[in-house]
Amino acid sequence: VTSVKEVKVCLLGESGVGKSSIVLRFVSDTFKQGLEMTIGASFMTKTLVVDQQTVKFQIWDTAGQERYRALAPMYYRGASAAIIVYDVTKRDTFDAVKGWVRELANYGPKDIIIALAGNKSDLEDLREVTKKEAAQYAEQIQAIFIETSAKNDSGIKELFTRIISRLPAD
Ligand code: GTP
Ligand code: MG
Repeated sequence: VTSVKEVKVCLLGESGVGKSSIVLRFVSDTFKQGLEMTIGASFMTKTLVVDQQTVKFQIWDTAGQERYRALAPMYYRGASAAIIVYDVTKRDTFDAVKGWVRELANYGPKDIIIALAGNKSDLEDLREVTKKEAAQYAEQIQAIFIETSAKNDSGIKELFTRIISRLPAD
């Protein structure tokens, strides 16, 4: 008998940080330079089998542009986890993470798992946010922290498996 655990996850973060690229890499193992900006939100699923458990992720990829910001609650409502993405080469996108953390604390589901993903780690020469600084912040807020590259397929699967390991046992 196999039971499938359905896990709702949403991605939040500024426009252009690579939310859709992370999802595209995770779901289809592809990367597109110059992906279109997301309009509203997009939905995808991906099933992972980890330690004999089957997890079906229901992934809501939100649009980072300011004009869509008010829609976010529709997507984090009922979510088990929120992945807040920033771009390691853009300091302002890391500063914006704090706003999302505050919003989730105030209006998000109680006990939502927060994962902080520092994307575009392949662009080391352009880095503006150190790994140490982000790791310290994540520890403060008890979030999962990982640096990712959707382009190089670095850290993406680990991001989702680390979310699984924090899910409450059923
Ligand atoms: P919105 O939908 O507007 O919120 O943006 P988004 O966060 O979904 O960003 P998206 O995935 O569309 O990526 C923005 C741009 O960054 C695209 O041109 C991607 O090709 C590029 N990009 C995404 N991830 C990476 C990465 O890991 N490394 C590099 N070098 N570029 C990336
Ligand atoms: Mg997008």
